Amino acid sequence: MKVLVTGGLGFIGSETVVALLEAGHEPIVVDNLCNSKIGVIDRIETITGVRIPFIQADCRDKEAMDKIFSSYQIDGVIHFAGLKAVGESVKLPLKYYENNLLSTLVLIQAMEEHGCHNLVFSSSATVYGDPGELPLKETTPLGTTTNPYGETKKMIERILTDYAHVHPEFNIALLRYFNPIGAHPSGLLGEDPRGIPNNLLPYVAQVAIGRRDHLNVFGDDYPTPDGTCIRDYIHVLDLAEGHVATLNKLNENPGLVIYNLGTGKGTSVFEVIKAFEKASGVKVPYVVAPRRSGDVTANYANVDKAEKELHWKAKRSVEDACRDAYNFQKANPEGIA
Ligand code: NAD
Ligand code: WQD
Repeated sequence: MKVLVTGGLGFIGSETVVALLEAGHEPIVVDNLCNSKIGVIDRIETITGVRIPFIQADCRDKEAMDKIFSSYQIDGVIHFAGLKAVGESVKLPLKYYENNLLSTLVLIQAMEEHGCHNLVFSSSATVYGDPGELPLKETTPLGTTTNPYGETKKMIERILTDYAHVHPEFNIALLRYFNPIGAHPSGLLGEDPRGIPNNLLPYVAQVAIGRRDHLNVFGDDYPTPDGTCIRDYIHVLDLAEGHVATLNKLNENPGLVIYNLGTGKGTSVFEVIKAFEKASGVKVPYVVAPRRSGDVTANYANVDKAEKELHWKAKRSVEDACRDAYNFQKANPEGIA
């Protein structure tokens, strides 16, 4: 398939481009580089031997999107493009609503006009809010989101669901990712946040190479076995492979489908630190700090539906992901050039 990958130079997008190439698909990437680097294209070429077609454009730019659909016979789209920093979304809500909603609306319009009917959308477990019941199933009612970023995902899910009801020719997959971590084992691709990392793994990796002196563990007084929060951490390569499996599913014309992409296993912050230290052989100094506002105590997925219907399963462990994240950080101490 010729697959348009929006946001395809980002953390999850770039790994998915590699997985698509390895599965024999032809990815075409559009990215405005607001949170990624052009050098990622060379790195994808080093790993796969393929120079991918790349268009630097904003998904909110209808003319640019039309041009892409006219130039390439696109069979399907994976829509990663979006802003994702939870804290920033609280401070700059309009920036998040504008970017995430508008890019999706423009994309859908362009797809409709150009007769491209297969879409995979990057949603998030954040749409479940503070879970009453675990593990989370796709049928678990959506909760109250704790920040504008999360709300954009919930709103886009609703928009795409409403749209799918009246467009039976469309196949749309809403993929609810749990916590993607890790990097490509080559050390060439990985998470490269600008400024101070918001997420646990990139922060731990920067502490491990000495770029930051310690990790703040946000709360050890949660009602969990060791007092720290529990999440479902999934290796980004497993997640990338989940997208290839989802494209295969869309070829069966299923209409609108929803899948949790996680491992089904919860891991605490302290367990992540231990796994990282074991995988890297490096001590990660930490200080217990106050709880971070908006954090839920625990969430992890029920992944039965994805395993059964996508014939896909997360295979890699948290320790594998920690080893790969550490190697990436060591090889790129200041990130990707
Ligand atoms: P990322 O920031 O690394 O990648 C997103 C890419 O989209 C970047 O390369 C950025 O430059 C590009 N982009 C943003 N707005 C754009 C626009 N308007 N037009 C064109 N390009 C644009 O993020 P990621 O971690 O790879 O996440 C990919 C998607 O998955 C996002 O939609 C994110 O919300 C979602 N998601 C991420 C996580 C996570 O923890 N990383 C979890 C759940 C869902
Ligand atoms: C994980 C755990 C923190 C940093 C976020 C988004 C979610 C989704 C995935 C996009 C928590 C703790 C973290 C630190 C810490 N993204 N922590 N010290 O919050 O589960 O999910 O990314 O959709 O929407 O909210 O991930 O990596 O930020 O935190 O103790 O410096 O690590 O409290 O328990 P989170 P995270």
